[in-house]
Amino acid sequence: MSQLEYLRSSPSTCRARHYSDDDFEMDMDDEWTTETESETSATIFSVGRTNATTETSVDDDGISMRSQTPEPEPIMHMDEVLRSNLYKLEFGRNLNSFSDIYKLPADEEELDRLERQYDMLNSLLDRKYTPPMMEVLADDGSEPQKAVLDLGTGSGNWIIDVARDFPHCSAVAIDLTPMKVMYDMILHRPENLEESVRIPTNLRGEVDDINLGLEHYYGKFNVVHTRLIAIGVQDYYRLIDQISEVLRPGGLIDLTEVGYEAYDRHHQPIKIDFNPDTDKPNWKSPYWAHWLRAIATVASTGGGETSASRNLESWLHAHRALEDVVHREFWLPIIPGNYDRPPAEAEFLKHYRNVLEYDVTTFLKSGRPMLLKAGYNESYLSEMEHLILTEMREAKEPQYSRIECVYARKARELSNKLW
Ligand SMILES: C[S@@+](CC[C@H](N)C(=O)[O-])C[C@H]1O[C@@H](n2cnc3c(N)ncnc32)[C@H](O)[C@@H]1O
Repeated sequence: MSQLEYLRSSPSTCRARHYSDDDFEMDMDDEWTTETESETSATIFSVGRTNATTETSVDDDGISMRSQTPEPEPIMHMDEVLRSNLYKLEFGRNLNSFSDIYKLPADEEELDRLERQYDMLNSLLDRKYTPPMMEVLADDGSEPQKAVLDLGTGSGNWIIDVARDFPHCSAVAIDLTPMKVMYDMILHRPENLEESVRIPTNLRGEVDDINLGLEHYYGKFNVVHTRLIAIGVQDYYRLIDQISEVLRPGGLIDLTEVGYEAYDRHHQPIKIDFNPDTDKPNWKSPYWAHWLRAIATVASTGGGETSASRNLESWLHAHRALEDVVHREFWLPIIPGNYDRPPAEAEFLKHYRNVLEYDVTTFLKSGRPMLLKAGYNESYLSEMEHLILTEMREAKEPQYSRIECVYARKARELSNKLW
């Protein structure tokens, strides 16, 4: 029997719905909290809110974000509730059911990919935290308690590290589905319940769609972090604007996004003749560049802002509430190629080539549901995936992804910039 037994709703007064591992066996009436309560709650996970400003794809039954039902609903089995409300099955993979914009899976395989990718990216970026974080989160006894928000947390590795490394701070993780440790605990590996003790007590997770707005968090955080979420974000500049409101004065905005096009050994965009007609794609070498363009085309047609990485720096510079903007770019040799590469990159590949290969292999699989849904033929995709993996192992020419990291501080006074 699952460790998570029952969920009882009394939703009309709730902003967030919380449950903790201590509550799995009990009637959960007491766990429904008001907005005020939720900010001090020690519970570790919550679903939904009521002040969302736009429609969500989840209806008002079960774990709805905005149920109007004043009557308590019957006790339900948590497994069923979570499965049917948080996930939808498409082409053999579990996808989130909250957002139609973000179309990559949210299942164990994808969370494992993100978890393994975490260390590799930290190595490429040469750090886990941007330098101002130490100063911004210094344990100086100031009130209110310092707080960190991770938007689109995925596996949750970054925010779990933050909660552990800065135990005097509170940490909140938002995603369309539960972070990995909760996923393991709730859906697949209830026998691993002891994993819950690995969730720091100063960390809380929330299931939510950030496209619905962050107004309920205005003025509540010292650091807001995002990494690789652009294809699920409808309007990235609006998100930055909202983050600037979420931050306390002097706070840190820390954004990392990847571009959805492939670059050559000179870090120039690889020009390809891309046919968006899914019936006659006719991809040629370099195959990865075509596949990536297909993902970008489908994602942006669906409403994701796939070109955000290119604009992050100028957006932060232009925003009147932000200052001290720092921008860095990094090149990930997705298709490593066989050439005389810079020594630092050779060193990186020495350690991470296998992780990178796993990452690409699983990412190709993760992209399948959205490409199949867009009309690509399954056997054609299988053939292309095979050619990409051959490219990855044998190609002479590399294909890079460009990763852009930008951070800035929230000004203590508004500047006279236009935005
Ligand atoms: C590629 S993963 C990256 C996860 C993590 N930030 C990392 O660096 O490993 C993108 C994550 O963003 C989440 N995401 C995308 N759009 C979102 C949205 N509108 N609201 C909340 N989470 C979102 C996805 O569910 C997914 O877990």
